[in-house]
Parts: sequence; C-alpha cells; structure tokens
Amino acid sequence: MPECQLYISLAILFTILTQFVSSQKPSFTCGVKDSIHLHKFNFTELSSSDITIYDQSEGENITLRLCSPLSQTCAGSHDYSICLRKQGTEVGLGKFPPLLVNNHTSMFNFTGDLCSNSRNYTVLIVMKCDYTAIDTTSPQLIPKGKDDQCTTYFIWNTKWACNEAVKANCTVVDDRNNLYDLSSLTAYKNNYVVDIGGKGNLTMNINVCHSVIHESGSECYGTAGACLEVHSNDSSNPKYINYGEVNHPLTINNGNLEIVYTSGHLCKDETEDSLWTIITFICDPEATEHTVPEYKNNTSCKYEFVWKTSLACNKTYLKQNAAKCKVTNPRTKFTYNLEVLMNSDVTTNTSDGTQYKLQICGSLRDSKCPKGTGVCNTKDSISVGMANGNLMWQHGGPYLNYTNGAICENGQNHYTLIAFVCGAEGSTGSPIIVKKNTCSLIIHWYTSLACENKLTCVEKQTNLLPLIQTSKNYVAKGMDTEFHINICRPIVPTPGLACPPGSAVCQAVRTSEGQYTNETSLGFPDEKTVLLDNQNVILNYTQGSPCPENPQKNLSSSFKFSCNYNGDHGSPEFENYSNCHFSFIWKTNIVCGTLIGVWVPPCVVQDETHVNKVDLSLLYPKPVPRIVAGTGKNYSISICGGKDHCNGSAVCQGTNGYGTITNVMFDYDNKAIKLLYGNGSKCSNKVYTSELSLICNDSVGIDNGPKLLLDANCMASFEWHTKIACPSEVPVLKSGTSNDPVSTTETTPARESLWESDAAIQTWAIVSALFLVTVVLIAWFYMRNPRWCFDLRYRISAITASRNHSRVQYSREEAW
Ligand SMILES: *[C@@H]1O[C@H](CO)[C@@H](O)[C@H](O)[C@H]1NC(C)=O
Ligand SMILES: *[C@@H]1O[C@H](CO)[C@@H](O)[C@H](O)[C@H]1NC(C)=O
Ligand SMILES: *[C@@H]1O[C@H](CO)[C@@H](O)[C@H](O)[C@H]1NC(C)=O
Ligand SMILES: *[C@@H]1O[C@H](CO)[C@@H](O)[C@H](O)[C@H]1NC(C)=O
Ligand SMILES: *[C@@H]1O[C@H](CO)[C@@H](O)[C@H](O)[C@H]1NC(C)=O
Ligand SMILES: *[C@@H]1O[C@H](CO)[C@@H](O)[C@H](O)[C@H]1NC(C)=O
Ligand SMILES: *[C@@H]1O[C@H](CO)[C@@H](O)[C@H](O)[C@H]1NC(C)=O
Ligand SMILES: *[C@@H]1O[C@H](CO)[C@@H](O)[C@H](O)[C@H]1NC(C)=O
Ligand SMILES: *[C@@H]1O[C@H](CO)[C@@H](O)[C@H](O)[C@H]1NC(C)=O
Ligand SMILES: *[C@@H]1O[C@H](CO)[C@@H](O)[C@H](O)[C@H]1NC(C)=O
Ligand SMILES: *[C@@H]1O[C@H](CO)[C@@H](O)[C@H](O)[C@H]1NC(C)=O
Ligand SMILES: *[C@@H]1O[C@H](CO)[C@@H](O)[C@H](O)[C@H]1NC(C)=O
Repeated sequence: MPECQLYISLAILFTILTQFVSSQKPSFTCGVKDSIHLHKFNFTELSSSDITIYDQSEGENITLRLCSPLSQTCAGSHDYSICLRKQGTEVGLGKFPPLLVNNHTSMFNFTGDLCSNSRNYTVLIVMKCDYTAIDTTSPQLIPKGKDDQCTTYFIWNTKWACNEAVKANCTVVDDRNNLYDLSSLTAYKNNYVVDIGGKGNLTMNINVCHSVIHESGSECYGTAGACLEVHSNDSSNPKYINYGEVNHPLTINNGNLEIVYTSGHLCKDETEDSLWTIITFICDPEATEHTVPEYKNNTSCKYEFVWKTSLACNKTYLKQNAAKCKVTNPRTKFTYNLEVLMNSDVTTNTSDGTQYKLQICGSLRDSKCPKGTGVCNTKDSISVGMANGNLMWQHGGPYLNYTNGAICENGQNHYTLIAFVCGAEGSTGSPIIVKKNTCSLIIHWYTSLACENKLTCVEKQTNLLPLIQTSKNYVAKGMDTEFHINICRPIVPTPGLACPPGSAVCQAVRTSEGQYTNETSLGFPDEKTVLLDNQNVILNYTQGSPCPENPQKNLSSSFKFSCNYNGDHGSPEFENYSNCHFSFIWKTNIVCGTLIGVWVPPCVVQDETHVNKVDLSLLYPKPVPRIVAGTGKNYSISICGGKDHCNGSAVCQGTNGYGTITNVMFDYDNKAIKLLYGNGSKCSNKVYTSELSLICNDSVGIDNGPKLLLDANCMASFEWHTKIACPSEVPVLKSGTSNDPVSTTETTPARESLWESDAAIQTWAIVSALFLVTVVLIAWFYMRNPRWCFDLRYRISAITASRNHSRVQYSREEAW
C-alpha cells in the first residue's frame, strides 16, 4: 500500500531528524523572561567560551560556561558546565543543563557531583544588571562560607541582565544661555538609595534621567525613575511601589533645575490620580563628587527630594567659587592640591639676570608692584600678572594664568603662565623661567605635588628605568630641528625650551643665535606607555600638540628599542615622520636581557644563540689557581682547573670544594657573565656553593683577578672585572623564543582538545550512519508486506505520541 509506505518513509525521516537533534547537546534556552515586566533576558553572548576564574583563597581554578557544556572534558566527561581544578584533580561542580529561573533576578542553578554524604555540589550564578559592563565580563566569585563547602556563589555583572532602559534628556539651557548637563549623575549599576524616615523600613530607589537599575531581588525596574521599597515588620517580602516613570526631561522651574517623574502607581488620594516624584537640584560649588539626593518631604501622592551638586551651578558662579589652588583632571578625577605652595613669596632669575618675585594662588605680600600682583619684575617694579587661585588643568598638569599685568608694548597686558610639572619624589621644587617673551613669561615648576600617577616604565622583563634622565635630556636631530627627549618622564626643565609642560618629547627649532623657537610637544608619558611587540620594546607617547597637517589629530611619537649587545645605554635616533607621528630608533644594551649559556669543555662559555662565545682559558695564561684572600682564609680559584683542581671544584678553600659548574648566564644588561657552581663538599647539613661574575671592563686585562664579594655560611661569591667578559660581536636579537620549549608545550593541550572533540563528532557520525542503515533495512523489509506495514505504522504512532507528551513536561526550557 503506497499510503502506508509514504507514512513510514516520513516516520523514518522524522526519527532520523529527532535522533539527530536529541543526540546533540541537550537543548537549553540561554535566556529567561522576567516574572512581571515581560522583558526577555538573553545570556547567549556570555556563553561563547569557557571562562576560568582563579580562586586565590582556595588555590583552585573554576572553569565555567553558562549555557553549554565546557569545551574541555572535566573529570573525564563532557557533561559539565562548571569544573573545579585543584592540584591535578578535577571535580564536576555543575552539570549541564542548569536550572534558569527569574524571580525578579535571573539566576542559574547548577547541580554537580556528590559533595558530602547526602549533598551534591551546587553553583548559583546571580545575574546582576550593569549597563556599563558591556563586553564579555567574568562572574565574580563570592568567597565560600566555612560551614558550606558544597555551594559556590557567583555574581555576574553584565548588561545582558538589564532591561531596556528608558531615558530622558538630561541637558537644559537657562534663559541666560547657561548649559546644564546632569547626565554624569545617571547611575548604570546601582541606584541611588534614599532612606526615608530613618527607620530603614522605607527606602526610595532613584535614578537620574534613566529608569532605575534592576538590582538583585528587587522589583524596582522597568520604566520607573523612582521606586519605593516598603519593608513590613515581619519578614515577608518587601513591597515595591512605582513613584513615577521617566517621562519628563530635565527642566528649570523657578530658577532651579528639576526632574519630575509622574504616572506611577494609582494614588488613593482623590486629589491626584497617580504617584509622582520631584527632585530639585541646588547649586553647591563644593559638591563635586559622590553627591546623593536627600529626602525633603512627602504628601500621600508625592515625594520630594533635593540634590546639592556643582553640576547645578552656572559656569560663571563656579569659576568665582572654584576651590582655591585645586583642580581635578576631568579624565582621571584626580585632584591636584597645591595649597602647600601658597603663602610665601619666591624669587627666581632669568638667565639674563632679571629677578622675578612670585606667589602661588595668591598675591605678593612684599613687593613694589601694585597690590594684587602675582608676579613682579623686581628691577622695574612691573607687574607681569595679577594673582588668582584659579588653578586650571591641561594635559601634562595643572597651571595658573596670571593675567592683567602692566600694559605692554603691543597694547595688551602682561601675563604669566605658571605650569606645574611632575617632579622628583617628595620635592616641592622651585620655579624655573623657561621663556621670557616681550609681553609674557612662562614658568615651569617641577614638584611631586603635580604627579598624578607613578609611571612605572617596566613591562614584563623589560625595564627602561635606567634610561630615565634627571639632569639632561637626550637630544636627537632631524628635519632641521632638535628633539629633546626623556624616557617615561617629562623632559628635564631647560631654560629657553618652552614646550607644553609635562611633554616627554619636545621638538624645537634652534635659531642661528642659539635660541629655541616653535616648541611642539610630541607626546606625554602615560600610564600604559611601554609595550612589547614580538621582539621589540616600544615606547609610545601620545596627545602631543595639534598636528600641523591635520589639526584634528595630535602629534605622537614612538621609540623602538633594539638590543645592542656590546653597546651601552645608547641614545635615540630620529627615523622618520609620517601621518603626524614621529618614529625613533634606539639601540641599547638595556633591552638585551639575560641569556642562558652553556659550558663547553674544556673552558669555553657560549650563549644559547651561539652568538657569543668566550674562551675563559684566556683568563689563565698559565694554569695556576688564583688565590683570593678572605677573612682568615684563602680561596683558590681555577675556572679551567678541571679534575686536577680541588676534586673538580673551581673554587676551593682548604679541602672544601665549592662546587662544579651548574649554570652559565650572559647578563647583557649588566655586561656580565655569571658562573654558578653547586654540589660542592658537605657543609654542615648543606653543601658548598659559589658564584663568580665576570664583568666586562674594557680597560682591564686579566691582571686584577677575582675579588671576594660575599663570604657567607657555605657560600662564596666573587667578581672579576676583565675585558675578556666583553661581548665580542654585535648579534641581532632574533628568533630567541621560537624554539623556546615553554611555548611549544603551551600549545599542545589546545590541539589535543580540538582533536578530542573532532573524534567525538566522528564517532557520532559513524554510529548515526549505522543506525540509519539498520532502520532503512528493517523498514524496507517490513514495507514489502502491507499488514506488517500497518502494524509498524501503529507502533510508530504510539512512540511519537509518548515523545510529544514528554515534551510538555520539559516546557520550562522553552519558557520564552
Ligand atoms: C539571543 O542572542 C543570540 C546572540 O546574540 C541570538 O543569536 C539569539 O537569536 C537570541 N535569542 C533570542 C530568543 O532572541
Ligand atoms: C589556574 O589557571 C592558570 C591559568 O590557566 C594556571 O596558570 C594555574 O596553574 C591554574 N591553577 C590551578 C590550581 O590549576
Ligand atoms: C522569589 O524570591 C523571594 C525572596 O527573594 C522568595 O521569598 C520567593 O519564594 C521567590 N519566589 C519563587 C517563585 O521562587
Ligand atoms: C549527585 O551526584 C551523584 C554522584 O555524582 C549523581 O549520581 C547524582 O545524579 C547527583 N544528583 C543530582 C540531583 O544531580
Ligand atoms: C535636550 O534638550 C535641549 C534643550 O533643552 C536640546 O538643546 C537638546 O538638543 C536636547 N537633547 C536631545 C538629545 O534631545
Ligand atoms: C511595626 O512595628 C511597630 C513598632 O515596632 C508597631 O508600632 C507597628 O504597629 C508595626 N506595624 C505592623 C504593620 O505590624
Ligand atoms: C515640602 O517642602 C517644600 C519646600 O520646603 C514646600 O514648598 C512644600 O510645601 C513642602 N510640602 C509639604 C507637604 O510639606
Ligand atoms: C509619606 O509617605 C508615607 C509612605 O509612603 C505615608 O505613609 C505618609 O502618610 C506620607 N506623608 C504624608 C504627609 O502624606
Ligand atoms: C550664576 O548663578 C549665580 C547664583 O546662582 C547668579 O547670581 C548669577 O546671576 C548667575 N550668572 C549667570 C551668568 O547666569
Ligand atoms: C592666559 O591668559 C592670556 C591673557 O588673557 C591669554 O592670551 C592666554 O591664551 C592664556 N593662556 C592660557 C593657556 O590659558
Ligand atoms: C615657526 O612657526 C611659525 C608659525 O607657527 C612659522 O611661520 C615658522 O615658519 C616656523 N619657523 C620654523 C623655523 O619652522
Ligand atoms: C605605538 O606606536 C606604534 C608605532 O607607531 C603603533 O603601531 C602602535 O599602534 C602604537 N600603540 C599604541 C598603543 O598607541
């Protein structure tokens, strides 16, 4: 019967397809619908790869993947989403799939292997909204309690746990054209919480120009801008009341900035239909950071709050009331405070002998200049700027601009710029006049008060600190200009060189009279300046002066350091200029590092690149041991001594041998070859060891001989300055790491796991194919007889019916 045969063919196809689907990983939906606001949370993006979290307190790693099994096996199985690894053991903390529930907060609940007698491991991952946690973040491990070793908690701050925000315009312009912007008050991870009445049972959750943030366990989210949380006396769940939606922009009412949120829950009072909130912002020039709303009063339908902040002040008012001699870097929020420099008159001279008297953030106490003068030319009693305490900020540091000095040749008033530049540790420094123009004066003041962050200048094994200059800049020449350069620090102050303060590279034109003009900054040292790219150490300075060809861009510069084995610290050389960027190269021994060497009998050492080879027998024209005097004992040293000297020890004292060669190191940074000896004679419960550093010194032959550096219990250390230890050639640092054994072993596990999962797929494919062939053969056999065919059809119907039934029970997986 063709009808029956068609049915069976379709049934087989169906079986194969369902077999295919069910043999894949168990189906699980990586998302959930929230219980009241009907938002769909989709966590798929967080589950793109395995994430490993190191738990320092327990010394263990937890690898997890939210919505699928781990890509690697755990405890020999592919079924786990969470795996704990500790000292070579693996424990399945959580099997896939988890239970994903949303009770105002989305939470993943994993169950794993048996933990203690009756309990299995559980892992609870609470998803918390943070609109700023945009990229794939990692969950945060909550330290385990002592009494519960079976449960692990994580909190995962992520934007994927946020509902869609409702926002309102947070800027407004008043009738005098002052612009106000409160958007920096908007919270993206935690609401502002205001305690009402001081009893702790009533709190208002508030956000600014943005709906409230969904916090753990709270129903305060959705479209409300203010949400009241009411705790009752008993321990029942709190109630949440919407006190107004984000539905109005920032406005000005009676001269005050104001935000209103209206159309909250119904109000029982007959005079108004719904609950609402009003927040009034009051100008307070001192309130610059971490300001919060304060509860004022309420009626049955309305709550009022006030918020004191400098953001509600107009610019003119702010300027007049600016905190004296303080300024905040808008990018890092670091506040510079130069108050300690105030209240004393200081004098400084130009190179031509003119003396100036000045006071920081205030007027001079004792001067012949007019009252209120900040900088006075004492010879002519001319004010070159009136004092003010309005410290300002620019890239490179804080500065003062003293304006309105005496009238100058050009008909304008004299002014003085005093720039503060990060200086030596603990120094208050003193002013240096770097430029004296006809009508203006530029003063640089190097002080540690102007240091914001400690620039480290160290990255992995590379340490550029020895290159930092403290008394004189490096100078390179190119493009008919001079480049004044320092490393990881602003350039050393140089009279006459007036680059933007704080610059690490200053380009200047030198006139025929030897004056500097047209000073431009090629960048500033920043926190993250030193980089390593493959073989090279690179130092980048950015945010210099505007680029002449493209004023939208800023000039920048970079230095590429390359190893010069037998050079010294070296100096920068200009390479090229293109696209607003200056490149320099710098050949130096600082970046060569230390290479492992080997001992080649009879008496040669060689570094692992085989570039440097030193014949140490040159140290011994005649094979006699060198005698070195210690305190009350003599050491005899014979590097090439072999078996004949002191039982094979290179260093010997009496009958004690101080060991045979164990390590050879070529320390290119210090131009030294280090020989380490171990396994010497017995010394109480240890053995004697020793080391000898051969230090390159071009001016010394071999005559000085070794010197005792350290004579410790069971250990002796010697140093020998000699030209024999100086590197002989200039090798190129290349492929030093390509045959590094560490890097090869590191890649192996990754390949293995890839191969493993390939194997799993292959196995599955073979099994499926066999299954398919069997089914087709049986079906074909049955279909030849119509009665058998109907019988088979009946059986298939029964099976598919029961499968549909079980699907209904699993519907939580398709909850949305
Ligand atoms: C969840 O997000 C992923 C990736 O962003 C997307 O492929 C998937 O379709 C989304 N699921 C739903 C139900 O929207
Ligand atoms: C944890 O993982 C890191 C990086 O994969 C690894 O270096 C470390 O040895 C691991 N620690 C343990 C205890 O497995
Ligand atoms: C939701 O959470 C509250 C407390 O956080 C709890 O009392 C309540 O039982 C939970 N509801 C469900 C359905 O789990
Ligand atoms: C608890 O762990 C045991 C042993 O690993 C396992 O057989 C059992 O299925 C687990 N129980 C649950 C509820 O996962
Ligand atoms: C916000 O309102 C101001 C005027 O009050 C207007 O100039 C500005 O364009 C608005 N911004 C947006 C994003 O709508
Ligand atoms: C809550 O406790 C206070 C004092 O402890 C009591 O006056 C008040 O009646 C209680 N309210 C409720 C709803 O039980
Ligand atoms: C709340 O305070 C404001 C300002 O002090 C006042 O205008 C208003 O009448 C007060 N409202 C109530 C109900 O007390
Ligand atoms: C203020 O609000 C609380 C709780 O929302 C309410 O019990 C109280 O009656 C309100 N005060 C006034 C004056 O309506
Ligand atoms: C700035 O604000 C102050 C005080 O709030 C006010 O007296 C002054 O008139 C305002 N100035 C301008 C230009 O708006
Ligand atoms: C300092 O003030 C003078 C005179 O008002 C002005 O020309 C100059 O641009 C100001 N400089 C800076 C850096 O603010
Ligand atoms: C210095 O800069 C001025 C304008 O900024 C320019 O006209 C002049 O040519 C520059 N001088 C030199 C020597 O580059
Ligand atoms: C550093 O400078 C190099 C050379 O110009 C450039 O390729 C690289 O992108 C820069 N790196 C940073 C972080 O600016």
